[in-house]
Amino acid sequence: MFSSRTDWNLTPNALSQLLAEKRKRGEKILDLTESNPTLCGFSYNLELLQALSSERSFKYEPDPHGLLSARKAIAEYYRRRATLVDPSNLFLTASTSEAYSHLFRLLCNAGESVLVPKPSYPLFDYLCALNDVEVRHYRLMYDDEWRIDFESIRAAIDPSTKVLLLVHPNNPTGSFVKNQEKEKILELVQRHGLALIADEVFAEYSLTESEGQYESFASEGRFLVFTLNGISKLLGMPQMKLAWVAVSGESGVVRNAMDRLEVIYDTYLSTATPIQQALPSFLDEGRRVTDQISKRIKANYHSLRSMTAQSPVSLFNAEGGWNAIVQFPRIMSDDAWALRILKECNVLLHPGHFFEIEQEACFVMSLLPEESIFSNGIGRVLECMRATAETSL
Ligand SMILES: Cc1ncc(COP(=O)(O)O)c(C=O)c1O
Repeated sequence: MFSSRTDWNLTPNALSQLLAEKRKRGEKILDLTESNPTLCGFSYNLELLQALSSERSFKYEPDPHGLLSARKAIAEYYRRRATLVDPSNLFLTASTSEAYSHLFRLLCNAGESVLVPKPSYPLFDYLCALNDVEVRHYRLMYDDEWRIDFESIRAAIDPSTKVLLLVHPNNPTGSFVKNQEKEKILELVQRHGLALIADEVFAEYSLTESEGQYESFASEGRFLVFTLNGISKLLGMPQMKLAWVAVSGESGVVRNAMDRLEVIYDTYLSTATPIQQALPSFLDEGRRVTDQISKRIKANYHSLRSMTAQSPVSLFNAEGGWNAIVQFPRIMSDDAWALRILKECNVLLHPGHFFEIEQEACFVMSLLPEESIFSNGIGRVLECMRATAETSL
């Protein structure tokens, strides 16, 4: 009865089962995978809610691009980052996940392929499968910093390849696309006639002092680029459901892409009017949470660095984003460590293989939890590790 593309193995894994049992017993878990900003104790500006109750929201003005007032506010957001974006090249969408689906529909026939970084965000596999697109991974290599392995891109490209996807900065590696990498990518994209999707949902979140050094792809005028962002990460409000696609590149191909996207967006019109009406106020006054998140991730990354400095845990250098990657002693697999740590010290970690991290015994930690929860969790993990080392001697 069902399509083969939904033929997933939905049996909960051992970690989810243990977590469900513990929660059922009422045990308190320190969740170092929490990536929902609305559950991390940030203080939201209640006055913003007034912008959602404008009388103008009773009027329905369907436009495949979304309301012009909202698009102008987004263009202004980019202008403040020294990036020129024309409001008529923007499409509003409910989430970047939805935008991916529309872009895959625009660019790929069934069975054609998309190049996706590895490690990266696991949802890409589902988004591609749901749109009958094949995922091909290219590697990010780590050697004190993460870099794109261009050989792996060249090896993955074939005539079925239509899109190269960049995540800038990437989740979970936290690596921005460096300027030299950008030039090489544009060269590859040109040579193979690919479209570029640049996912910049974490662009505001730098962990290093080099803030602002990374350019957006949104003003790239040479090749066809779809730049994605939205208030889910930018303002820490995933529940408000507003994201956007900025289309840039050579004018003829951009026009062609936009004519087609207009039909796709017109078919769904999925963005609600109140949030579109409120977007200018949200982008002006909602940055209070962006600033709190920036401060939190830096503080947690710093404490992770100092707490693990004299320990068997190695911390991978990250440049931005909401996650950090650590590696534990390779005496057991990431799954076995994660189970042990949850079982014995009630701390939840994401095993690295969830994100296709190749290195063994790696974990992805969210930097969003409140600082006391985060440092308490790390403390318990280190304690568990010491106890494990003693018992295995
Ligand atoms: C790299 C990346 N892109 C997109 C998304 C999805 O964002 P949205 O809430 O706009 O769908 C996420 C969510 O974690 C993400 O990590």
